[in-house]
Amino acid sequence: MSDTTANASKDISSVLVEERSFPPAAGFAAAARLKAEDLAELHRRAAADPIGYWAELARAELAWRKLFTQALDDSQAPNYRWFADGELNVSYNCLDVHLAEHGHRTAIVFEGEPGDVRRLTYRELHAEVCRFANALKARGIRRGDRVVIYMPLVPEAVVAMQACARIGAIHSVVFGGFSALSLKDRIEDAGARCVITADGGWRGGQVVELKAAADKALADGCPTVETVFVLRRVDGAGIQGAASRAATPMVAGRDVWWHDAVADQPAACEPEWVDAEHPLFLLYTSGSTGRPKGIQHSSAGYLLGAKLTTRWVFDLRHDDVFWCTADVGWITGHSYVAYGPLAAGATLVMYEGAPTFPDGGRFWQLCERHGVTVFYTAPTAIRALMKLGDAVPALHDLSKIRLLGSVGEPINPEAWMWYHRVIGGGRCPIVDTWWQTETGAIMIAPVPGVTTTKPGSCTQPLPGIFADIVDDEGASVTKPDAGGYLVIRRPWPSMLRTIWGDNERYLQTYWSKFQNRFYVAGDGAHRDADGCYWIMGRIDDVLNVAGHRLGTMEIESALVAHPRIAEAAVVGRPHEIKGEAVCAFVVCRGERPTGDAAAALTRELRDWVAEQLGAIAKPEDIRYADNLPKTRSGKIMRRLLRSVARGEAITQDISTLENPAIIDQLRG
Ligand code: WTA
Repeated sequence: MSDTTANASKDISSVLVEERSFPPAAGFAAAARLKAEDLAELHRRAAADPIGYWAELARAELAWRKLFTQALDDSQAPNYRWFADGELNVSYNCLDVHLAEHGHRTAIVFEGEPGDVRRLTYRELHAEVCRFANALKARGIRRGDRVVIYMPLVPEAVVAMQACARIGAIHSVVFGGFSALSLKDRIEDAGARCVITADGGWRGGQVVELKAAADKALADGCPTVETVFVLRRVDGAGIQGAASRAATPMVAGRDVWWHDAVADQPAACEPEWVDAEHPLFLLYTSGSTGRPKGIQHSSAGYLLGAKLTTRWVFDLRHDDVFWCTADVGWITGHSYVAYGPLAAGATLVMYEGAPTFPDGGRFWQLCERHGVTVFYTAPTAIRALMKLGDAVPALHDLSKIRLLGSVGEPINPEAWMWYHRVIGGGRCPIVDTWWQTETGAIMIAPVPGVTTTKPGSCTQPLPGIFADIVDDEGASVTKPDAGGYLVIRRPWPSMLRTIWGDNERYLQTYWSKFQNRFYVAGDGAHRDADGCYWIMGRIDDVLNVAGHRLGTMEIESALVAHPRIAEAAVVGRPHEIKGEAVCAFVVCRGERPTGDAAAALTRELRDWVAEQLGAIAKPEDIRYADNLPKTRSGKIMRRLLRSVARGEAITQDISTLENPAIIDQLRG
């Protein structure tokens, strides 16, 4: 265990005092799907019979091929199994179930960064998914095979995910912003047989060359990959060094264009009926130690969580236009783009590009153009757009928006108030949703027609989620505003099942701290006198940069892989827009660089980290020292480094430091 974790609870003290509160407007409450009495009834049922409650919802909400007889199997706890002897298909539940009555409704409204717009009805989406599912089968992909998806945020990314689900293949989406090396690691860990990518995607007016990165990943290893599907998206435009589609070289026998692969495929594909516990997908996420972990989700339990929370928290109706801005490379894009809204039969918006392209009004222009009614994004985007001023959104008609959401990190009250006032016109409830890759679905959030919200609080657990805050001994913290570890006391259907290929790490990471008694989220939190939760951020060595989880270890490993670097320590420091910024302390091989040499090395190291991990992991600051401050047992004193990175006074005991003069060097 790292020194930070051991000391975590001592650090957890609440400093935020926020007194404003916002009850739902009477009009919103009256029209809401879930009313106060419905929510109270759900809570009552969940408390009276927590397992029966989920069983009832699973029977009512999902279309089963074979109904389960047992809701929860806890014989292997904490490897819980839900609805295990039931059979179903996730893609059938997202598409086929809507065809008879709602096949003509719009499922996806897509806008590319260059401004191209496409609409797909449920019937059209179903046909695309079936064709691509048949194409996967034609290349020998079967139930249980792993398929890595490395694509821009275009409808085909959702088609690919749904097609995998349809044939029982396990997808693992890798965010298009990750580097070739990160892609390679994930392909190899998953043992993927197939990669689905595109020639490129548009981002900030530039082409992200996905196929080139995939080729690089595959050239270095990945012996299990037999097939690479390539979507034509940018069609030669913007690809360096060539003006035509010849810019995307294809490897004979391995690579196949998406459009060729689906050309002769029928628009129907019998779903593969799988066990409820059949893995639907893996999604790699950063942990405090070691390599990213493949979070494994189930089919039925996951879908139940995604569907219910989409309806409860976003209050979706058939006439809503729901825009969750997340990329499908993150869990938010799984649960609230690719699965939840489709299972709920909603209309969703997808946008390929950057929020500020060609200018900072793009998000608001999209909202106006497509009549967005429910908008869900991350605090980092809200802060970045807030900085551009009120005049930018004022140019657009945002009057159709009726509900706003936030996810990914604690939202600071200032950004909350701006979101409420400027984007929501003071009339829209804000749902601040706390959850994680591991939880599969939203866990703690307001129910918009019922809950009184407070800027900065994710309010209260949803019905059936038994969250709590505990101290180091695992005792519930009942004193208002006292901090502790955020835990979940009972299993829930959409929880992760394990870490792919490493169940030991699953047990260690999420359960061992309190002897398997409850799921440990890794966040610190406190609860106010009204029972509202306030998340205080990670208590392990995980950074949250622009809403994306980055392990300090991963960045440190990338740095020391550089020939000039002997040792590295990475910590976070607060950043106005990104929430947290990456700050690296490094020890060089040979002489410590100063002046221009240091500046040049800093540029080189930033590019190096971007190449190793992806641009989001680039350190904001790099500081050079002759050695790093360590405890007697040889552990890096991260808390000290954190204080240095933040420019705070040092309050820690530094008497054990070998060379106290190092502090001045670190301060840089
Ligand atoms: C943080 C994203 C405060 C938290 C869905 C969590 C939040 C981590 C919130 C998971 C929120 C997410 N308020 N903190 N509303 N939502 N977090 O796996 O630290 O990418 O543990 O899942 O983000 O990040 P992940």
